[in-house]
Amino acid sequence: MSIEIESLSKQFTKKGKEINALDNVSLKIKEGSFVGLLGPNGAGKTTLTKILTTLLLPSCGEAYIDGISIKEDKKIRQIVGAVFGETGGRSLYYRLSVLDNLMFYGTLSGLSKPVAKKRIQSLLNYFDLEEKKNALVMKLSTGMKAKVLLIRSLVPFPKVLLLDEPTLGFDAESSEKAKDLLNEFNREFGTTILLTSHNFPEIDELTSRLILIDSGKIVQDCAPEVFKQKVIQEYIHLIFSLPPLPSDGFKMSQLPTEIFKKLVRDSAGAEVTSLKEKDGLNFVYEVTIQPIKYPLNETISRITVLILRASGEIYKIAPYMPSLKESFLAFLAMNKTNSALESEAKEEIFTFPMQEEDV
Ligand SMILES: Nc1ncnc2c1ncn2[C@@H]1O[C@H](COP(=O)(O)OP(=O)(O)O)[C@@H](O)[C@H]1O
Ligand SMILES: [Mg+2]
Repeated sequence: MSIEIESLSKQFTKKGKEINALDNVSLKIKEGSFVGLLGPNGAGKTTLTKILTTLLLPSCGEAYIDGISIKEDKKIRQIVGAVFGETGGRSLYYRLSVLDNLMFYGTLSGLSKPVAKKRIQSLLNYFDLEEKKNALVMKLSTGMKAKVLLIRSLVPFPKVLLLDEPTLGFDAESSEKAKDLLNEFNREFGTTILLTSHNFPEIDELTSRLILIDSGKIVQDCAPEVFKQKVIQEYIHLIFSLPPLPSDGFKMSQLPTEIFKKLVRDSAGAEVTSLKEKDGLNFVYEVTIQPIKYPLNETISRITVLILRASGEIYKIAPYMPSLKESFLAFLAMNKTNSALESEAKEEIFTFPMQEEDV
């Protein structure tokens, strides 16, 4: 089922101040896709997810899931499964057992009791919660409650999953399991999934499209691979040694490295971006190199030839790909600098005439 969002905005008033939690967001998500939603705290991710699940009304704009308007809240809730990891614990009945909670929600979604029970049992098993099924929800740890919430959203096998930090509090093993399971839902059942998470590998490995929002606006919309390369250029990580120079008259730590930088420039068309002595006695260096003139692989082979010709030794030469987390942080830093520069520029425009009047 597809998701269509048309010019959605949401304003909140907080201590008399207006906040644009969502600012004219438009977006189309194709049926069967797995989309990641990223953004810093307060970006508007939860607001967007809540609007799509009919928990919040937009200030203006429209959204449709499988062509059904989000104003038709009963119909939407029938087809959508949702998790709100941050506040989710509150949406379970604390004085009921895990199984009673899940059976209640499962049958509410229209499943027969035996079908609901079978699915719940196998999901509880999968997440190692079998022995907790009769425990009261209030006795569970945060991670366990989070698992129950995820299970609750999956039991009806919904065609659309809107997951807002669903694995918050999961341990490493359960995180991996959740990843596998979500992947399976997407691939086997064609479930359309919109996933918000600060667990970057989750987004990186599962999604084929990444939407980044900041201050209520979409600021990036592309494949995670494309995003990573856009923000941080890939470079080469090299550890190598050069043979010692024959004369003691030279400053050993300086001269070979300067020659090396020039050689890299001349014969591999690349720039050494960092260089440090790893083992001074044995002339071992650790270097990062940015390809400029030639593609990555060709740069690597040119540098290899260069070092071997100089009778050096290579301990490691490999492309370094930035992680999604590194790229995300770099992007936010860049965005901040840009908006700071913009507001500085604006200030100049305002202050300039005032200064003139002063004179
Ligand atoms: N119920 C609310 N009342 C007032 N402000 C809110 C409310 N919910 C969210 N906000 C504000 O809207 C903005 C977006 O919040 P949210 O969607 O929760 O961001 P995210 O999930 O990306 O961290 C924030 O500035 C937040 O403080
Ligand atoms: Mg949130």
